[in-house]
Amino acid sequence: MQRKIIGQSVTRSDVWDKVTGKTLFPGDLYMEGMLYAKVLWSERPHAKILSMDITEAEKVPGVAAILTAEDVPCNEYGLVFNDQPALNKDKVRSVMDRLAIVIAEDERTAKKARDLIKVEYEDLPVLTDPRQAMKEGAVLIHEDRKDNILAYCKIHKGDLEKGFAEADVVVEGEYFTPHAEHAYLQPEAGLGYIDDQGRVVVHTTGQWAHDDGQQIAHMLQLPKDQIRVIYTPAGGAFGGREDMSVQHLLALAAWRLDKLGVRRPVKMVWDRKESFRGHHKRHPCYMKYKTGATKDGKLTAIEAEFIADAGACASSSSAVLANVVTLATGPYEVPNVKVDGCAVYTNNLPAGAVRGFGAPQAIFGSEMQMAKLAEALNMDPVMLRMKNVLGEGSILATQTVVPEGVGIRQTLVEVAEEAGWTDKGSQRTGETASHVRHGVGVACGWKNVGYSLGFPEQATAIAELYGNEDIEKAVIKIGAAEVGQGVMTILGQIAAETLGIPYERVGVVNDDTSVVPGAGSASASRHAFMSGNAVKFACLEALQAWREGQRPAIVQHQYRPPRTTPFDPDTGECFPHFSYGYATQIAEVGVDMETGEVKLTRVYAAQDVGKALNPQLIEGQIEGGVVQAQGWTLLEDFIQQGGCLKTKSLADYLIPTVWDVPNEIVSVIVEVADPQGPYGARGVGEMTMMLLAPAILDAIHNATGIWFSRIPVKAEDVLLALKAKKKGAEGTEASEGSHQPLQTL
Ligand code: MOS
Repeated sequence: MQRKIIGQSVTRSDVWDKVTGKTLFPGDLYMEGMLYAKVLWSERPHAKILSMDITEAEKVPGVAAILTAEDVPCNEYGLVFNDQPALNKDKVRSVMDRLAIVIAEDERTAKKARDLIKVEYEDLPVLTDPRQAMKEGAVLIHEDRKDNILAYCKIHKGDLEKGFAEADVVVEGEYFTPHAEHAYLQPEAGLGYIDDQGRVVVHTTGQWAHDDGQQIAHMLQLPKDQIRVIYTPAGGAFGGREDMSVQHLLALAAWRLDKLGVRRPVKMVWDRKESFRGHHKRHPCYMKYKTGATKDGKLTAIEAEFIADAGACASSSSAVLANVVTLATGPYEVPNVKVDGCAVYTNNLPAGAVRGFGAPQAIFGSEMQMAKLAEALNMDPVMLRMKNVLGEGSILATQTVVPEGVGIRQTLVEVAEEAGWTDKGSQRTGETASHVRHGVGVACGWKNVGYSLGFPEQATAIAELYGNEDIEKAVIKIGAAEVGQGVMTILGQIAAETLGIPYERVGVVNDDTSVVPGAGSASASRHAFMSGNAVKFACLEALQAWREGQRPAIVQHQYRPPRTTPFDPDTGECFPHFSYGYATQIAEVGVDMETGEVKLTRVYAAQDVGKALNPQLIEGQIEGGVVQAQGWTLLEDFIQQGGCLKTKSLADYLIPTVWDVPNEIVSVIVEVADPQGPYGARGVGEMTMMLLAPAILDAIHNATGIWFSRIPVKAEDVLLALKAKKKGAEGTEASEGSHQPLQTL
């Protein structure tokens, strides 16, 4: 009997190459004879393009080609809707838009020529606030979308009036969460070329190679098998590589050059400024909440409204919004619910996937409300949550039963125990002798695993078993992107466990769409569950074939999860998500009363992962997610003014460094098996960062008595709020430091 491989912290399969520098990231790729491409970006957030003159640029020696909209066979792409041109021609809608690609012998020449292109713009009114953009009479950003409203959804359950009538306490709040930049270390880069079979090849990194390939095939109007996407490992992704960045531009460059009789590879590398403007951000979200509860703490009703800033194109906005709306009540049973949300086009950078995909916005609102409710009820905030958390068989706001395996209560209990909550809970307003005041806060959260609301969901894997007597080698082929999360390792573990062979005998191949089947994106915390299941079932079937004497035994398996359904348009009734991850975090802060600086000292992070396939990888995800959420809450401030970028580098956009991170992050891994998941696993990656912001704000309130209702909460905001409070200004909502007061939704 071999020892179990599931649950072991086996060493990551990619670790040695990464730490020794052998791994090639997209910027490292090199091919003999390659040319270099540079993008001409829109200098205006919203304008008509009157003319573009490339004559001077073309004269620069060393320029191979200048591509414009005329060179694109079908000038449209997009993750959900094809509302983005590859190269803009008549109009620009944000500073992410691109007008031309200049290809030259070297990068400097390409840059020089690009800067000689003359563009004449006629400015259009710039919309930067979705609440203004959706008003009647606002200029239309996409002419076919009246009111600039890109998506709208709602959930109405029960009787709201009755719910609030039954409440002894009603808490209302308005909140705002801002843009977030993924800030991955590795900016976008890659190579495009034509391979020896005449296929258009893009060698880069991303989150979903097969989907990139499909979008490119549509844009170039070529059959899918004429496009090949190869991924290197990613230097971070966090949702930011969900949309194409350089992919389609490189494909276009290689394909068009070939048509012009130049069959040479093309390389493109974005600098940090290009990366900032060239990929989408987290949706800024304006929220309004009303929550009712009885005096013993039972929730009776929640009413919530969301307006999300989608920016200049759709990206995954409709899916993010659907997540916001379905997760808006928090992981609680609420009898009466009314949630409305819309995503609105503006001339800001497009918004799309960022770790959490709508959950951080929704959880911010729902947990700030729970924190205030606990205060209003004079009830311990852990106890308040205990009275309301979802359990097995709970009915959700969408009027369907929560999928089996509900671990939210266990995360609450275990994290409270770990943090010694009873003690801390009783001294929650303690003041220390020094100028630093300590506070502690708590928040719960939930996030779906996998695609939702009827979106087709599948993952396909091939298992190949080699040998004679024994299985000497197993090769798993699956198009699951390695974005740093360790998917190659856990898929190898699942294969080894299922086949009953040592982990070292399994190889996982994932990098080339011409070799591996599609497994969906590295997003929605889905690969452990989805690709894990695909690998497990492929291995089980391959094992059967092996036992029947097949050598090598080769099997392909497509896994499909339980079907989800879309919203009923009137009530929002649906089966939105087939699996969830649950988490509770407790944050301890020290607030410097003289400088306003908030030091996050300790975080206890409990998460129901179903089954810890590889505990060390999960701890890594938890620690990374906590620090990323810390940055979003206390430091990061992505500033656009009038649609133009003010934040242009990592010197302006402060992410936490080793000096900022908590003294300790205590990971509490909870295992309430998901009966559908491989070996019980659910998902991990996004749940780690969706709930720390409200926990920190609860802790700041605990320390100072001030409720902040928007993030980031920077030192100057705290200081100004403390001063305002000292001056006797009660009603801290209106005195949040430098923050503008929220306009009514
Ligand atoms: Mo992730 S935010 O679902 O790419």
